[in-house]
Amino acid sequence: MTHADPERLAILVHEVRSPVAALAAIAEVCVNERLETPARRPLIELAVAACRGIERLVTDAALASVRREKVDIRRLVEEAAAAAVLGGGNVRVQVDDGLPTLHVDPLRLRQALDNLVSNALVHAESAVVVAVHARRAGAEVLLSVVDQGPGVPLDEQQRIFEPGVRLSSERSGSGLGLAVARAVVEAHGGKLIVESVAGKGATFTIALPAS
Ligand SMILES: Nc1ncnc2c1ncn2[C@@H]1O[C@H](COP(=O)(O)OP(=O)(O)OP(=O)(O)O)[C@@H](O)[C@H]1O
Ligand SMILES: [Mg+2]
Repeated sequence: MTHADPERLAILVHEVRSPVAALAAIAEVCVNERLETPARRPLIELAVAACRGIERLVTDAALASVRREKVDIRRLVEEAAAAAVLGGGNVRVQVDDGLPTLHVDPLRLRQALDNLVSNALVHAESAVVVAVHARRAGAEVLLSVVDQGPGVPLDEQQRIFEPGVRLSSERSGSGLGLAVARAVVEAHGGKLIVESVAGKGATFTIALPAS
């Protein structure tokens, strides 16, 4: 891997906003007009290819941006929650005792966690409380963001991590938050997953190797 370039991800996210917006516009037309006919196929393929390209750029930039150091996860989670509370969110934190110190990039990990917390606050309008849990599970440390909002339907749970994908155009956003969060977590050798039953909230979990 090349030496760390902490600005690279930020610049990339800034620069891909407009191609992602174009991609989102194509996707919206496809969905709204129920595009299934052969003549419309190229448009869908174009959107999928653009999506893959952007995903690759984000993944590479996330990898090149990581600067690892020893990080106290309790502190990182509490600071993320405090920032969200300052912004008006109702966020609760529960951090288990005895979590190991992790060798991660605190800025990138905060960015990933902040994206999940802000999603919970923005997309789950019915959410009174957003809970952030940090705990150990075997060889992993799990950071979960739990909301009681509308949730994510099962058939959309993979797609929402793709750049430009937004399930509703009612709220503003570029559909990049989850793509960036997943790229950052995977750059740390971890996983970002969603568990949700539509109508019953969503739990997004960052799983990081404990060692
Ligand atoms: N906690 C959640 N509850 C319900 N839907 C969610 C939640 N988090 C994300 N989503 C859905 O996934 C989509 C993609 O999320 P993502 O964070 O990538 O983009 P965004 O929030 O729309 O825009 P951005 O993060 O770039 O400002 C959202 O538009 C929303 O439809
Ligand atoms: Mg978001």
